[in-house]
Amino acid sequence: MTNSDDSQAPAEPALAAPRRLPRPGRPLWIYYPALLARRGNRVEGRGWAAAWLRLTTFFFGPSADNVVRVGRNFRTRGLAIVVSGAGNRVEIGDDVAFSGNIELRGFNLTVTIGDRCDAKKTRILASDANVRIGDDCLIAAGVHIRTSDMHAITDRVSGDRINPASDVVVGNAVWLAGEAALLKGARLPDGCVVGFRSVVTHSFDEPDSVLAGAPARVVRRGVAWTR
Ligand SMILES: CC(C)(COP(=O)(O)OP(=O)(O)OC[C@H]1O[C@@H](n2cnc3c(N)ncnc32)[C@H](O)[C@@H]1OP(=O)(O)O)[C@@H](O)C(=O)NCCC(=O)NCCS
Repeated sequence: MTNSDDSQAPAEPALAAPRRLPRPGRPLWIYYPALLARRGNRVEGRGWAAAWLRLTTFFFGPSADNVVRVGRNFRTRGLAIVVSGAGNRVEIGDDVAFSGNIELRGFNLTVTIGDRCDAKKTRILASDANVRIGDDCLIAAGVHIRTSDMHAITDRVSGDRINPASDVVVGNAVWLAGEAALLKGARLPDGCVVGFRSVVTHSFDEPDSVLAGAPARVVRRGVAWTR
């Protein structure tokens, strides 16, 4: 039976427009490009790509003695590097193509990308721990590599942090398929393949294996892959 009073029912209150939460962050102008070469912060390398990188590498105001070094024949379709802290290094090998962004937060950290690596739209965050990527790696679009969760999770009883930052290490000739994620403590031996959207959360020790899933597990062994 239809209710003839339906038309009289009070209208649903309109949904409140979502409010933008204020984000505590540093205003962009506090960062300055490597082009200004202040406080020992610099980008080293030859060629147009390295020259371009001087415009797209930014240091946080108080940062000092941070160095980005780019090897021979570096190519990029857009790479932004943001460094906050002191004594940090980004080492990019020879014949590397890398697009995306690299961020370092902390002191005396190193992000190393080996020779002949090819990475598209890749995000690396090294916060309080290092990232090392070997030679001949292929990194598909949308891969995310991070050494820290950024927010502490602590044990209520002991007060100890249970999610400390940890190095991420990728061996030689590793293929990270699209949108894979390597989280703190991820270690991949030589020759591994990580599946699409897989999430690597710890250390693996079997070379030439395929890892897939979230969290990633070994799904194949003894493989070789082609570029
Ligand atoms: C990693 C990959 C290459 C492996 O392919 P493959 O060797 O043919 O492996 P299969 O598809 O047979 O999968 C093997 C097992 O892993 C599982 N698996 C594969 N990829 C997976 C993924 N991304 N997430 C979860 N499980 C996955 C399969 O379900 C299968 O499980 P089963 O044995 O229980 O059936 C492929 O899964 C992949 O991720 N492709 C995307 C490649 C890409 O991003 N290319 C971009 C250009 S660089």
